[in-house]
Amino acid sequence: MNILVTGGAGYIGSHTCVALLKAGHSVVIADNLCNSKREAVDRIEEIAGKKVIFYKINVTDSALIDILFSNHQFEGVIHFAGLKAVGESVEKPIDYYYNNIVSTMVLTQACVKHGVAKFVFSSSATVYGDNQVPFVETMKLLPTTNPYGESKVMSERILTDAATAHPDLAVTLLRYFNPVGAHPSGLIGEAPNGIPNNLMPYVAQVAKGKLEKLRVFGNDYGTIDGTGVRDYIHVMDLAQGHVDALDHLAPGVHIYNLGTGRGTSVLELVHAFEEANGLKVPFEIVPRRAGDIASCYADASKAEQELGWKASRGIVEMCRDSWNFEKNFKG
Ligand code: NAD
Ligand code: WQD
Repeated sequence: MNILVTGGAGYIGSHTCVALLKAGHSVVIADNLCNSKREAVDRIEEIAGKKVIFYKINVTDSALIDILFSNHQFEGVIHFAGLKAVGESVEKPIDYYYNNIVSTMVLTQACVKHGVAKFVFSSSATVYGDNQVPFVETMKLLPTTNPYGESKVMSERILTDAATAHPDLAVTLLRYFNPVGAHPSGLIGEAPNGIPNNLMPYVAQVAKGKLEKLRVFGNDYGTIDGTGVRDYIHVMDLAQGHVDALDHLAPGVHIYNLGTGRGTSVLELVHAFEEANGLKVPFEIVPRRAGDIASCYADASKAEQELGWKASRGIVEMCRDSWNFEKNFKG
């Protein structure tokens, strides 16, 4: 299939482009590079041994998107483009709502106008809020604590309403848990700007000596060792989930958790990283971070049953590949 990948130069998008190309699809990337670099596109081509078409455009620009859809015969859209820093979304709510929601509306409108039926959307486990674990797709969503989370809830709603009004549309909402790791080549991975917010890149930068020590946000949760539990998923498994989702798209709205179904605490992850890479990661316990929940992990059985998708990489491989990328990364 000929697929439009918005945000394809970013972390998850770049790995997914490689997986799509390897599966025989053609890829057109639309990315404004607000959180990525043009080199990522070269690296996608290098790993996959195939070319992609790249446009540096803002996908909230409806006129440009209309031209793009007129110039290409897309069979599907995978919409990764979005702003994703939770803390920043509290400081810049309008930017987050505008970018994340308008992009979804513009692309959906273009799909309807140009007869493109297949749409895969990057949603997040954050839409479940502080629900009972494991999170199941059928759960009633609870309020999220930030504009980023709400932008995902609203985008899901917009796509659901669009699919109801346009029965030919086939929409899949993929709720990712905590993506980590990198392509085993070390050529693409997560390269956050400034000091990382997320645990794995922070741990990797401490291991590199770029940051002094990890601050563990709270050890008084009701979890195995008191630290926060999350469902870390290797980005290569996540990328494959998009290829499988695309293969199974059917009219209507279909929602899938993409997680491993296993929870790992902060301290378990730190120790796994140390063991996998033979390194020390100094840390200190500090108070809880505002807005954090104790535990978040998936019931991942629906994706396995309906898409035939299951995460195959464990926490050791995630830590190894994250470090392999970070240690060679010049930034
Ligand atoms: P990323 O920042 O690495 O990639 C997003 C890409 O979108 C970047 O290349 C950026 O330049 C581009 N972009 C942003 N706004 C754009 C716009 N208006 N027009 C064109 N390009 C634009 O982030 P990621 O981690 O790869 O996340 C991809 C998607 O998955 C996002 O929608 C994110 O919200 C979602 N998601 C991410 C995580 C995570 O922890 N990484 C978890 C759940 C969901
Ligand atoms: C994981 C655990 C922290 C950093 C966020 C978004 C979510 C999704 C994924 C996009 C928690 C602890 C972290 C640190 C720490 N993104 N931690 N010290 O918060 O589960 O999810 O990214 O959709 O929406 O909220 O991920 O990696 O920030 O935190 O102790 O320096 O690590 O408290 O328990 P989170 P995270």
